[in-house]
Amino acid sequence: MATTISLTPPPLPLNFKKYQITKTHPNTPYLKQHSVRRLSAAVKAYKVLIEHGGKTTELEVEPDETILSKALDSDLPVPYDCNLGVCMTCPARLVAGKVDQSDGMLSDDVVEAGYALMCVSYPRSDCHIRIIPEEELLSLQLATAND
Ligand code: FES
Repeated sequence: MATTISLTPPPLPLNFKKYQITKTHPNTPYLKQHSVRRLSAAVKAYKVLIEHGGKTTELEVEPDETILSKALDSDLPVPYDCNLGVCMTCPARLVAGKVDQSDGMLSDDVVEAGYALMCVSYPRSDCHIRIIPEEELLSLQLATAND
């Protein structure tokens, strides 16, 4: 007796949302990190001002790309290492605006104080960020870890 197998996928649930896979920057080929980001209904690039090395650069950053990725694509010599939100080599102060950095390792207190890791920061509004010395963020993060 023959068995019929359907190759048609089941219908999507009504609350199905579209997802997109994003990759880390190609300058870190040893890492194969992929993260899944929900696409906004109306994808819009945000203006992100980055202060670094005495210069301020304005970038257009899509909501599904990290600020670090866009900065590297734009040849800004910004510091980074792991690209995973773990090493804290890409610290920044969020002067204005909002980012989603829920994939990062910063404590809630440090995030609420206005700090961000660029490699896991997705803009959620126009932003102004200042790259800061790694030591500044490390001391805050360690202080909150001891609480
Ligand atoms: S590059 Fe390591 S935390 Fe951002």
